[in-house]
Amino acid sequence: MARKTKDGARDLVLVLNGPNLDRLGRREPDIYGRDTLDDIAAMLTRRGDELGMVVELRQSAHEGHLVDWIHEAGERGAVAILLNAGAYTHSSIAIRDAISASSVPVIEVHLSNPHAREAFRHRSHVAAVAKGTICGFGALSYLLALDAAAHLRHAVAP
Ligand code: DQA
Repeated sequence: MARKTKDGARDLVLVLNGPNLDRLGRREPDIYGRDTLDDIAAMLTRRGDELGMVVELRQSAHEGHLVDWIHEAGERGAVAILLNAGAYTHSSIAIRDAISASSVPVIEVHLSNPHAREAFRHRSHVAAVAKGTICGFGALSYLLALDAAAHLRHAVAP
């Protein structure tokens, strides 16, 4: 039976996006692709409908917003957070601490493969506290992560 979130929505998934991801489609399309964040939101909503999940996508350039939203996901009983923290991935202890303090599993998402890029992108503070990471598949990374979130609903803890 599907888990009910505290606000009544079924199987809520928050999709949180950090700085510069509002520029997708125009921002370095050779690296990040031509899909906009609105395109990605539409794809996730459609796939979420198929999976019986409500997807809420947000974006902010501000680290504290991401921290607050991670806490909010716990308060609302979300089943998972998909998190593309953008450049904060590589710098933010505050986001790492928020994930550690939360009972909601976080799936780290990147459009590009940071490990195949500059050395400063190789370290992720998110990865150490995430359930898993999906990167390198462009917009498809988000869809794969949503499918992973759907599986987590019924998964037995390892
Ligand atoms: C990114 C990778 C990060 O290194 C970069 O700072 C971003 C986007 C990605 O989705 O590939 O802003 O998170």
